[in-house]
Amino acid sequence: MGRGVFIHTLIVSIMRLEVPPHGGHLVDRSLSPAAAEEWKEKAKSLRAICLASRRLSDLEMIASGAFSPLEGFMCRADYENVVVNKRLANGLPWTIPITLAVSREEAEPLKIGEDIALIDKHENLLAILHLEEKYAYNREREARLVYGTTDQNHPGVRALYRRGDVHLGGKISVVQRPQYESFQEYRFTPAQTRRIFAERGWRRVVGFQTRNPIHRAHEYIQKAALETMDGLFLQPLVGDTKEDDIPAAVRMECYRVLIENYYPKDKVFLGVLPAAMRYAGPREAIFHAIVRKNYGCSHFIVGRDHAGVGNYYGPYDAQYIFDEFEEEELGITPLFFDNTFYCKVCGNMASVKTCPHGSDHHVSLSGTKVRQMLSEGIAPPPEFTRPEVARVLMEFMRQGQVRAA
Ligand code: ADX
Repeated sequence: MGRGVFIHTLIVSIMRLEVPPHGGHLVDRSLSPAAAEEWKEKAKSLRAICLASRRLSDLEMIASGAFSPLEGFMCRADYENVVVNKRLANGLPWTIPITLAVSREEAEPLKIGEDIALIDKHENLLAILHLEEKYAYNREREARLVYGTTDQNHPGVRALYRRGDVHLGGKISVVQRPQYESFQEYRFTPAQTRRIFAERGWRRVVGFQTRNPIHRAHEYIQKAALETMDGLFLQPLVGDTKEDDIPAAVRMECYRVLIENYYPKDKVFLGVLPAAMRYAGPREAIFHAIVRKNYGCSHFIVGRDHAGVGNYYGPYDAQYIFDEFEEEELGITPLFFDNTFYCKVCGNMASVKTCPHGSDHHVSLSGTKVRQMLSEGIAPPPEFTRPEVARVLMEFMRQGQVRAA
């Protein structure tokens, strides 16, 4: 994009008091209908790479502009800078590598400058990768620097170790965005959510990332944030998660029943995030915030152990990492929350910041304990999970038991 267009977009954003996207403009790599037709013809003679799960959701995120300013899969300079310095080669904050990894055999015949068809498992042509670089990378180093561990029990590290040995870098041109049958009514591009927030007159919009079924602590921090905002953007992640996480369809049903019964509909907007979960804790918190900025959020919630797993990260590491960046260069304001719980003496949700009572008065349950209760057909206490949500989760567990029997 030329300098003139960039300045124009920036001025339009400022005039509408919109949050500027990361890097100044929303990336749109879609081909015109005529160009897409031409590429469909040309693609018949191109080498093809089939994308599924993680690679497919990365493509979707680039294609929709949610990963702005990325215009494709990272070349070496961006990759190196992200891994080592938490920034793109141009200095813009970015903490998670977005790469297209293939096997050595797949990479071997590919020539720099070649156009490669990116297809889905039904052989639909999705995009063209204009190959700029192919390069080897050090998996262990990426694991150590990005995830803070090389332990393959970490689900993000495990996924990294299963990837191919060679990265293909280059811009993409999108013929058609990946097609999904699920969550049709909740799939929005950043351009769409920005328009919706503007139509609703929301200027201060707080984004919420989640990969777990909603519980009272989630609800509390969302509503506490909403008290000083114009709107709340709930955006459960529906890309790949680890095997034992609750499936996205069940989590979305929990949100549906909760919004129906407990949320003001004109202040809340529900849409899915089609990204894969990395479980990279602090680094992923920055990444999640930047992506939500692209969707038009001015603020972003970071609570206890955001995007964490097991004991790999300290409970507030995902908050401390924000000190490594200037607020202006991130362009989205984090809202930090301490561990929250229901206090029986206070008679409400609280954190150690707002409750003087001891932990024996607090209702806190581990994920394992909740799963065990649900699988035994016992509803967690309403101070922990709303009964409507508990019903959805118990039904899911019951169906799993019926299937397993
Ligand atoms: S995450 O992997 O997407 O972060 P989860 O869906 O559990 O997992 O969390 C969503 C957000 O709520 C994160 O910002 C997380 O830090 C926050 N959070 C979850 N539980 C609590 C809690 N009890 N107290 C404070 N924040 C919490």
